[in-house]
Amino acid sequence: MSRKLSTGPEHVIRFESVGLRYGQRPEVLEDITFALKPGSFHFLTGASGAGKSSLLRLMYLGQRPTRGLVTLFGQDVATVPRDKLPALRRRVGVVFQDFHLLDHMSAMDNVALPLRVSGVSEAEIKKHVPELLSWVGLADHLNAKPPVLSGGQKQRVAIARAVIARPDLLLADEPTGNVDDSLATRLIYLFEELNKLGTTVVIATHNEGLLRNFPHSRLHLERGRLIDPPPLKGA
Ligand SMILES: Nc1ncnc2c1ncn2[C@@H]1O[C@H](COP(=O)(O)OP(=O)(O)O)[C@@H](O)[C@H]1O
Ligand SMILES: [Mg+2]
Repeated sequence: MSRKLSTGPEHVIRFESVGLRYGQRPEVLEDITFALKPGSFHFLTGASGAGKSSLLRLMYLGQRPTRGLVTLFGQDVATVPRDKLPALRRRVGVVFQDFHLLDHMSAMDNVALPLRVSGVSEAEIKKHVPELLSWVGLADHLNAKPPVLSGGQKQRVAIARAVIARPDLLLADEPTGNVDDSLATRLIYLFEELNKLGTTVVIATHNEGLLRNFPHSRLHLERGRLIDPPPLKGA
């Protein structure tokens, strides 16, 4: 993690003295300052309620900060023209905690969506989407629609959709919450593969085993503030 500030697109994302409050309540994020280098890999940790999901929401522009500066790919998000926002968002892959899959579409079509939006050919889609879905263990569910899939299966469809177009920034909110440890490890390998291709990765997680097995840098939140991460239990 780099907390040294500078301007310009050498950082994928940069927060400076960012605060967030919901309505009239006290701030749930306070004085958040950090910057992520291209190609870096981070876990986002902290107790339930610490602000992890809120911080990710600010990072994918799902929420505006109440104060402070957020720049994404070198652009101040407060001043980006409205018509430029979709292009900026397309560079960010998001694994939502509650998946956000389209229930009337097959697993294949859900995962193909970001490719179709980017104008990738159907021939390429027919090759790459089943390949990735097979890799995450869903070869037998290509045509299944989300309502018939288990929580863990939906989570893997959501992950495949987030990574398929090789975004510049991948944000995942507890993406291994619904799968067993061996599958969780496999999914982190997938994020690492993407990271090797240049994607900056931020994964919110509670899973101490993963933190021990994958020694990546940590952004740690405690009651809405970024602090130095405490040592892992039993480490
Ligand atoms: N949409 C919302 N409206 C009001 N309060 C919220 C909302 N989302 C989160 N909060 C509050 O913000 C704080 C941080 O929540 P959250 O970002 O979900 O933390 P985490 O993901 O670490 O569990 C909590 O106190 C939570 O109740
Ligand atoms: Mg959360």
